[in-house]
Amino acid sequence: MELLQQYFQSSIGKKQIVALTGLMLIGFILGHLAGNLLIFKGPEALNAYAHKLASMRPAMYGVELALAGTFLLHICLTVYLFFYNNEARPIAYGYYQPTDRSISTRLMPYTGTLLAAFVIWHLLDFTFSDQTGTLSLVGKESLGLYGVVVNAFKIQWHSGLYILAMCAIGFHLTHGFQSFMQSLGLNHPKYTPVIKIISVFLGLAVAAIFSSIPLYVMFFARIP
Ligand code: HEM
Repeated sequence: MELLQQYFQSSIGKKQIVALTGLMLIGFILGHLAGNLLIFKGPEALNAYAHKLASMRPAMYGVELALAGTFLLHICLTVYLFFYNNEARPIAYGYYQPTDRSISTRLMPYTGTLLAAFVIWHLLDFTFSDQTGTLSLVGKESLGLYGVVVNAFKIQWHSGLYILAMCAIGFHLTHGFQSFMQSLGLNHPKYTPVIKIISVFLGLAVAAIFSSIPLYVMFFARIP
């Protein structure tokens, strides 16, 4: 027990927990991405998927609680490490900027903050919206969750902000994946270049595939 406490209190322990919770969140994001692609198959497919998840309650409450806990732990520890590292640094970043830090690394605090704000907005947008009310109406018919999503993305500024958030998630995942490998000690001169390529590919793919949904609704979907 004492050992666990010491581990949690140490900086390396916190970094490893950030890495592990980050990996769990990447798992959620990839699963969520796969589920969301059902939008391309139409209202029946997406709504059936949403009903399936809803039918798994109350077990789903446990999953959601674990997900919320993972998000919170990841955010709290990252914020702590950010301020702790700034305090421990003899020369503030305001005066000293290391040149070998990639753009995704330097953007980490900003993309992280943007994503935290995005998730709150996103939950209000879709999860807590009335999925049978006015927002779900396409013509005069309620198309359930599918209707809510397409009505949201038919609004250009709404889609624009989503695409911006998806770019943020792409950058965040790119650096997050590299950090994960480093925190678990999987850094090696031989493998680091491969890890970098995989992380850039992961970030780009997630950002592009998520963004394809609002773009599809805005420009291609035939919705009456
Ligand atoms: C174009 C991109 C996205 C679309 C179309 C989308 C769509 C949705 C929809 C329709 C729901 C509600 C599901 C339901 O009520 O059954 C949902 C929930 C959620 N989304 Fe997204 N999402 C997107 C991106 C993201 C991203 C990037 C994240 C994370 C950073 C995220 C995190 C969540 C979370 C945490 C929930 C709540 C899960 C739950 O209630 O179990 N989403 N999303």
